[in-house]
Amino acid sequence: MKHLLTLEQLSKEELLDILNLADQLKYENKNGIPHPILKGKTLGMIFQKSSTRTRVSFEVGMYQLGGEALFLSNRDLQIGRGEPVQDTARVLSRYLDGIMIRTFAQKEVEDLAKYGSIPVINALTDYCHPCQVLADLMTIREYKGGFEGLKATFIGDGNNMANSIIVGCLKLGMKVSIASPKKYEVCDHIKEFAKKYPGMFEMTNDPLTAAKDSDVIFTDVYASMGQESESQIRLEAFKGFQVNKEVMSVAHPDCMVQHCLPAHREEEITNEVFEAHANEIFDEAENRLHAQKAVMVKLMAPDYK
Ligand code: CP
Ligand code: NVA
Repeated sequence: MKHLLTLEQLSKEELLDILNLADQLKYENKNGIPHPILKGKTLGMIFQKSSTRTRVSFEVGMYQLGGEALFLSNRDLQIGRGEPVQDTARVLSRYLDGIMIRTFAQKEVEDLAKYGSIPVINALTDYCHPCQVLADLMTIREYKGGFEGLKATFIGDGNNMANSIIVGCLKLGMKVSIASPKKYEVCDHIKEFAKKYPGMFEMTNDPLTAAKDSDVIFTDVYASMGQESESQIRLEAFKGFQVNKEVMSVAHPDCMVQHCLPAHREEEITNEVFEAHANEIFDEAENRLHAQKAVMVKLMAPDYK
């Protein structure tokens, strides 16, 4: 594994390897066992979109691993004034040991990896959010003890979260059901991917059909970063696509709820369901730290055992 650009690129074994290391690092962290595996290394963090969790968890994670993290905002970098990504990649590769990037186009992340010579981590694009779903998978295993045979459901926009959930959950042996309004279904590329898992993937326009017998239900905002101008149209289009008491009532009684956050209460999820599942949701947020530390170790200290 040279980069983390999408979850598609990872084998099931590589996914489990990251999750196992994440569990180990979490255990060590909770028990005050230091692990300065990346001592002397520097991660650059390019942000072209806002962030709370990603920025803080990567920065703290790098610190806990004995290294340093640099916050590089689009507002300050020359990339924000049009310097090509090819040049940025080659320059940053001369200073840093790894780059984390949050941006719009997936191609920008791929180009950074292609033209640079250091590991690149995708910290969200319009296409996918692999770091988030690694944390989600880690949380599911903590609560459910494994993956095989579980049913994961996503209710909402066929967006970056939906895409990574489909890929990550199918790879680990979960069934996946997605409920989105017609115009907001997942892209053809992801539908093609899901065809490799016959009988494991379902798409519907009915949240109750999707939620039936679920072990974990995910949702996400109606309007993602960059789609703010569509907020009103989306609020209309997504009516009925909400994780609420009725949706939870058709799922398994011990069904978990996951939300990548930030959440818009009473839009994609009711306050009642959110608060009833707050422990799972904030464990999920915490696990960003541990999962990303595992990714950074795998990429920036590949010989670490
Ligand atoms: N879930 C997530 O990526 O949160 P931030 O946008 O706050 O980083
Ligand atoms: N789909 C959301 C996820 C935020 C973590 C967005 O892209 O804004």
